[in-house]
Amino acid sequence: MKKGFLILTVMAALASACSRPQPKEALPYETQVDSLLSLMTLEEKIGQMNQYNGFWDVTGPAPSEGDASMKYENLRKGLVGSMLNITGVEEVRKVQKIAVEESRLGIPLIIGFDMIHGMKTMSPIPLAEAASWDMEAIEASSRIGAREAAAMGVNWTFAPMVDVGRDARWGRVMEGSGEDPYLTALIAKARVKGYQGDDLSDPLTIAACVKHFAGYGFSESGRDYNTVDVGTTTLYNTILPPFKAALDAGARTFMNSFNDLNGIPATGNSFLQREILKGEWGFTGFVVSDWGSIGEMVPHRYAADGKDAALKAAKAGSDMDMESYLYIKHLKELVESGEIEESLIDDAVRRILRVKFELGLFEDPYRYCNEELEKEIVGQADHQAGVLDIAKKSIVLLKNEGNLLPLQKSGLKVAVIGALASDKDSPLGSWRGLAETNSAVSVLEGLQAYPGNTYRYAKGADLVLEQPVFLKEVKINSSDRSGFAEAIQAARSSDIVLAVMGENGFQSGEARSRSEIGLPGLQQELLEELVKANKKIILVSMSGRPLDLSWADQNIPAIVQSWHLGSQSGNAIAQVIFGDYNPSGKLPMSFPRSVGQLPIYYNQKSTGRPNDPGSDIVFWSHYADVKNDALYPFGHGLSYTAFSYSDLKTEKSADGVVDVNITVTNSGPVSGEEVVQLYLKDHVASITRPIKELKGFQKISLNTGEQKTLQFKLTDAELGFFDGTGKFIVEPGTFTIWVGGSSSADMSTEFTLD
Ligand code: NOJ
Repeated sequence: MKKGFLILTVMAALASACSRPQPKEALPYETQVDSLLSLMTLEEKIGQMNQYNGFWDVTGPAPSEGDASMKYENLRKGLVGSMLNITGVEEVRKVQKIAVEESRLGIPLIIGFDMIHGMKTMSPIPLAEAASWDMEAIEASSRIGAREAAAMGVNWTFAPMVDVGRDARWGRVMEGSGEDPYLTALIAKARVKGYQGDDLSDPLTIAACVKHFAGYGFSESGRDYNTVDVGTTTLYNTILPPFKAALDAGARTFMNSFNDLNGIPATGNSFLQREILKGEWGFTGFVVSDWGSIGEMVPHRYAADGKDAALKAAKAGSDMDMESYLYIKHLKELVESGEIEESLIDDAVRRILRVKFELGLFEDPYRYCNEELEKEIVGQADHQAGVLDIAKKSIVLLKNEGNLLPLQKSGLKVAVIGALASDKDSPLGSWRGLAETNSAVSVLEGLQAYPGNTYRYAKGADLVLEQPVFLKEVKINSSDRSGFAEAIQAARSSDIVLAVMGENGFQSGEARSRSEIGLPGLQQELLEELVKANKKIILVSMSGRPLDLSWADQNIPAIVQSWHLGSQSGNAIAQVIFGDYNPSGKLPMSFPRSVGQLPIYYNQKSTGRPNDPGSDIVFWSHYADVKNDALYPFGHGLSYTAFSYSDLKTEKSADGVVDVNITVTNSGPVSGEEVVQLYLKDHVASITRPIKELKGFQKISLNTGEQKTLQFKLTDAELGFFDGTGKFIVEPGTFTIWVGGSSSADMSTEFTLD
């Protein structure tokens, strides 16, 4: 049969399907999907489940078999459903043209890319944005990335990553929203809305992919890709809620995960994908595997070989194979031998086609291929203003002894020390899309906007030995101290020292786990020398994860956590340093006192021995050499003003809702924003429960002297929990709530539920 004829047949089938009445409650494109499916051969169906990487930008181990020509050939045969890492209208158009104009049925490709915190214009890394606790700003930032991605031909991002992360050794904490499921869930919603908007077929919105389903953030000892073994109460109460929230916000795709979960690789995990996601939660979109994760079930020793892996993954509900090449190789034979039912293949293909319809790809396969739009949108000037806004909001003031900050804008001699101070690349962070190397505003450049002071820069020591790239290890300088003397001299002869230290932009992210989380290389040593030279010192800590800042906390009067803030990094930092923006960020992850405390999180359990019994008795849950609590706890973050809390009251209404009222006053010298946080403790329950849990927050702005009374509502959703079988229950009894500016807030009250 001729290609052209078939394309016409498909169009006619789709057109007649469109005019047929849809059954009530049906998904909008169901009839079209069914019609198209009925025209497809088994091979073509399996082709839709096959995803290839582009031909140059490898974001995982290079494929051990197959080459570009095989990919082209399969595209022509209609045996590819999606490609990833192809960007730019010109390139996307090329592959889309082959799929649409040369394959028998002309089914368009869905084009995926890791647009994690920007495409060309970079927002802060996701962990930094989580510190803003500002859902509108996070949604707006996600939208900027989505617009640039869509304008470059991408219609599907592998984000948001909603893995709760409690171990700062794990490099991928930079990609998530920290340690708390409640905050992570709200951010997941904001991001999905930012990417998908209200209409997925809009040429400037893209499909979200919630990842990694599930448990990846609990990799043992923070080592990437490691084993995950967690109980069901942690699974239901901590790991799964952000995924459910993203789904409820409309996320159309999920990605499974490299790790095993309680003995079953997530990729082959029927309980996760079929029972929970597609069963109980009613997900109608599709699940893509992680890169090669179907094949990795062989080294997991869960599958005997590639064929067995394909069988187990498909049966378990992995709909699309990212770069394992195993579906395309084995599924046909597996169906023909009766080892897997064709109905399962049909189900996967239906899901994939459905999302393609929703993206508007059948209406116009080149919907995301508009050169004019690409020129107009990518790097658009107001995107810079948008990422500056969220960058400022992401900065956390950890310590400010004697109100050393903000600095005066004129008359100061400032020594600016550290390789990261002049680094225009590291602030772009890991997972940096297509950002141009060295395109961020450095701290040193940001300071130039305040010309009333004089700045003397000395790097002190290189942080890294060579310009790192995504796929290479970062080589840290641990021996060249030749710049120390100049830095020490600069510190000595200045009024104040601004030390910018932390991690290179490639020191966190995928496969960037660390067993030590202090300042890398010679930075700690240099910092100690600087303190000897000048006590008036501010540390700007630039990192992709919580670092161990214990020494700095003891010896440095002011510490600013700046993370990797993206394109506008230096401007955002300078505005905070000089008080043009009053810092409002709050930590989304606890900063430990030592690496030995990890994993550390505020919402831990009580244990049977929570309290120091006093005298000489040592038998309680503690370390002999470090305190139990965090150095800087979850939710912590200072301001240049002060907020006081009063009149905490609770009231139960007839419908079982508990109303909480609190009055917050700006009692300090300048206007500012505060994140008012509410934590809840269920005293006694049928399973052990955390010592406290975030159950509400509001970010408010108050002028000096201004006062606001806020109301929080605690419904069943906040008061209940999942038992070990996944059943949500609310139990009667006594609860304590705390309201304040961090997880260590001490204003509390109690109420009882009958
Ligand atoms: C592997 C990562 O785990 C995943 O998050 C990412 O989306 C894929 N590679 C594609 O780059």
